[in-house]
Amino acid sequence: AGGPWEECFEAAVQLALRAGQIIRKALSEEKRVSTKTSAADLVTETDHVVEALILQELQTRFPSHRFIAEEAAAAGAKCVLTPSPTWIVDPIDGTCNFVHRFPTVAVSIGFAVNQETLQSSSMLCVPGTRGLGGCSPGIRPFWGLGDLSKALVLTEIGPRRDPATLKLFLSNMERLLHAGAHGVRVIGSSTLALCHLAAGTADAYYQFGLHCWDLAAATVIIREAGGIVMDTSGGPLDLMSCRVVAAGTREMAVLIAQALQTINYGRDDER
Ligand code: IPD
Repeated sequence: AGGPWEECFEAAVQLALRAGQIIRKALSEEKRVSTKTSAADLVTETDHVVEALILQELQTRFPSHRFIAEEAAAAGAKCVLTPSPTWIVDPIDGTCNFVHRFPTVAVSIGFAVNQETLQSSSMLCVPGTRGLGGCSPGIRPFWGLGDLSKALVLTEIGPRRDPATLKLFLSNMERLLHAGAHGVRVIGSSTLALCHLAAGTADAYYQFGLHCWDLAAATVIIREAGGIVMDTSGGPLDLMSCRVVAAGTREMAVLIAQALQTINYGRDDER
């Protein structure tokens, strides 16, 4: 952090810590669960409570800033990323895990200026010990791997379960396994999958069907760790395009992008 956005960074860390306390307490309690875009796209009252807390605090402190948030978008708010300072918030990334008490969930508070996510982003893993970056980085030096064989790759299923989407999802996994990947893991939280990559505990990550709020904070953490984040076409990452490839090296990211078949989820800013 540092520079003109230091105050934003501090606010994000404090809010992520407060939100984490609420989520940690609610994890083991009874929940009221509703569905959104599909039977596997879940929301609980805790998602709403945490989002309201984060937005109210940020709106009070930074009244001229703009906001994009998962549950507000589900209620019909438009996701438009302009050059203005914009907060991009996912109150609980890994809601399905949260519902099942599987303790792999995160709060993701991202911040973008000029359509680029900035350092002033914060994320908290639950359970976790740190307010920033969540997972302690640098477990091993960065990913020397430049080929797919021996790689540990992470992905997420995305919300759709129709046969055509599932076929493409499984066939993408199969392609990576045929190429020799040691394993493909689905942990239930896009932001934490990206965090694992930043921590050096996985070699690559890709997904179709995630959203800007799943990516906004985590992509900063990956880049700060020296990793690569790109579009599945091999071009630059587009936060609104609902797809991503990330890896420790550009070589590895390109190989994965080349192996994948596209699953078209549309764009966050065209809903
Ligand atoms: C979801 C999770 C899930 C991924 C979805 C995300 P949510 O976020 O990260 O693992 O497959 O694409 O939208 O709904 O739990 O915030």
